[in-house]
Amino acid sequence: MKYKRVLLKLSGEALSGNQGHGVSEEILDTLSLEVKELNQKGVEVAIVIGGGNIHRGVAGATKGMDRTTSDHMGMLATVINSLALQDSLERKGIKTRVLTAIEMKEIAEPYIRRRAMRHLEKGRVVIFAAGTGNPYFTTDTAAALRANEIDADVILKATKVNGVYDMDPMTNKEAKKYDTLSYISAINKGLKVMDSTALSLSMDNDIDIIVFNVFERGNIMKVVMGEKLGTRITKNV
Ligand code: GTP
Repeated sequence: MKYKRVLLKLSGEALSGNQGHGVSEEILDTLSLEVKELNQKGVEVAIVIGGGNIHRGVAGATKGMDRTTSDHMGMLATVINSLALQDSLERKGIKTRVLTAIEMKEIAEPYIRRRAMRHLEKGRVVIFAAGTGNPYFTTDTAAALRANEIDADVILKATKVNGVYDMDPMTNKEAKKYDTLSYISAINKGLKVMDSTALSLSMDNDIDIIVFNVFERGNIMKVVMGEKLGTRITKNV
């Protein structure tokens, strides 16, 4: 294994599959199996999930909703997704802990960094819920923040395309994929792979981001084993 401790960032939309909203049992099942394989190989896995399949903070705000309220709803949506993933993982026999940035003791443990590290050391999959706990920050930023806090070796950014392209590959046939990309060019080119706060945070702390297609079975394991897949966002390109 190339990496010992990874932070896997899943989008909310990834959980909804073709439905476009809600949580797809089938997707949860596949993802859980892949995480189980990593866990069984001794890789320490922490996960941050978005909430866009239930509520998107920014989208709510563009429709006139108060941004903070809308972001609070988005953060609660990530808690729902975290619990769904926890349930799916535990049904496959994996020990998990959900740690939430917004306190709700009856539902999940509060986020405490040292506790998160201890859980990982004990082989539990840790799911970080409620983003950073603050409005105006995306779950990508939460992923970058937590990855740094727990000393993760890499951020695995799961998407539905196999890397970062210079144009939208869904609409442009000529779109070219980057194998590697520097943080600064990802920011300057406005490639929308992650927001600029998440990219800057990763750049300042020198943690690589690998953007890859999570819908191809086995990809998470391949990336963790060091196979060159997708796009690596890194310091020296
Ligand atoms: P170790 O102390 O390393 O053994 O960790 P542990 O998580 O097994 O111990 P703990 O006794 O803290 O937790 C037992 C169970 O209670 C776990 O499933 C935790 O996720 C859960 N738990 C712990 N603290 C809280 C909390 O504040 N709220 C909720 N809802 N659950 C909690």
